Amino acid sequence: METTRVPADQAGILLASKALKAGLTVGVPTETVYGLAADALNAEAVRGIFLAKGRPADNPLIVHVLDRAQAEGLAVITPLAQTLMDAFWPGPLTLVVPKKDAVPDVVTAGLDTVALRSPSHPAVRELLARSGLAIAAPSANRSGAPSPTTADHVMADLQGLIPLVLDGGPCEVGLESTVADATGLVPVVLRPGAVTPAMLAAAAGECLVANSAMRPLEKGEAAPSPGLRHRHYAPKARITLVKGPGDKVAARIRALYGAEAKACVMVMEDRLDAYQGLRTFSLGKDMYQAAHRLFTLMRQADEEGLSRILAEALPEEGLGLALMNRLARAADFDILSL
Ligand code: TXA
Ligand code: MG
Repeated sequence: METTRVPADQAGILLASKALKAGLTVGVPTETVYGLAADALNAEAVRGIFLAKGRPADNPLIVHVLDRAQAEGLAVITPLAQTLMDAFWPGPLTLVVPKKDAVPDVVTAGLDTVALRSPSHPAVRELLARSGLAIAAPSANRSGAPSPTTADHVMADLQGLIPLVLDGGPCEVGLESTVADATGLVPVVLRPGAVTPAMLAAAAGECLVANSAMRPLEKGEAAPSPGLRHRHYAPKARITLVKGPGDKVAARIRALYGAEAKACVMVMEDRLDAYQGLRTFSLGKDMYQAAHRLFTLMRQADEEGLSRILAEALPEEGLGLALMNRLARAADFDILSL
């Protein structure tokens, strides 16, 4: 299959809308990461997503909608979901709510809940409006690889496997949306993202974070979010995270670096001085820049053929929680605490 890449302008969006209506899959930009889109109510089209990504069938998809009115056709909007929609939609918040029959089982991997998100990126909103479809879209990477934050990343992973990619430039946030269970009275964060627990608590009065969000699942433990079962966001290079006082961390990272054939160090900009003379990747000045860069840097390490990424742990506050969640999973929880 030939993969066509077109700008996410009116002509491109029209092409994408036709492709989705014809049951095809399309790579689309969102404010978080690129998604691999298909008509959510067309089970055959949704199967095409799983096939192209090599995604395990037990990992359910997020359904993208324009607004609450469209969400209502797909799911029961609980009072909590309503509150959170009012506060954060459109934007990087996915809500898990009880599903209605309209949503095919292939989308939800047989669960009785569905994950809904109303994205804010103008191109995907235009696509939702023009097609009138609900759009199922996981991140547009091969399963297990870092999520794509540019059309180049989508092409690198899925060229030849999907017919069309809409190029909308680099994604603003760079990390996948916050996934929150909104079936009960209190939101439970299943996957941290740019909408932080503190922001959710400010809107809903309270917020819990599933403890599985920041640690590996134990053997045989049921995953609150099926995606947590699978290794995620990982480049080919092995990642090790080092936590502790700055001087100790730098000494340990230098020692590990010396023992590795082709290593790099990934740290915030203000920590680069501690690693002079080593190959370094800067995550930037603040957590927003770090989120924007993280997956790109992981891919760059692979392109350079690096075998090891040595990263300083980040503070698990605000957006730092989402960054550490992705880093810890990409490292397969190889975390040294000093
Ligand atoms: O930012 C995003 O969320 C991007 C863009 C494209 O919207 N999408 C994305 O999709 O990251 P994906 O498939 O890579 O991640 C979806 C996550 C998975 O961890 C999945 O297990 C979880 O949402 N999920 C989906 N449906 C669920 C459900 N019914 N209950 C619990 N977790 C669910
Ligand atoms: Mg994904």
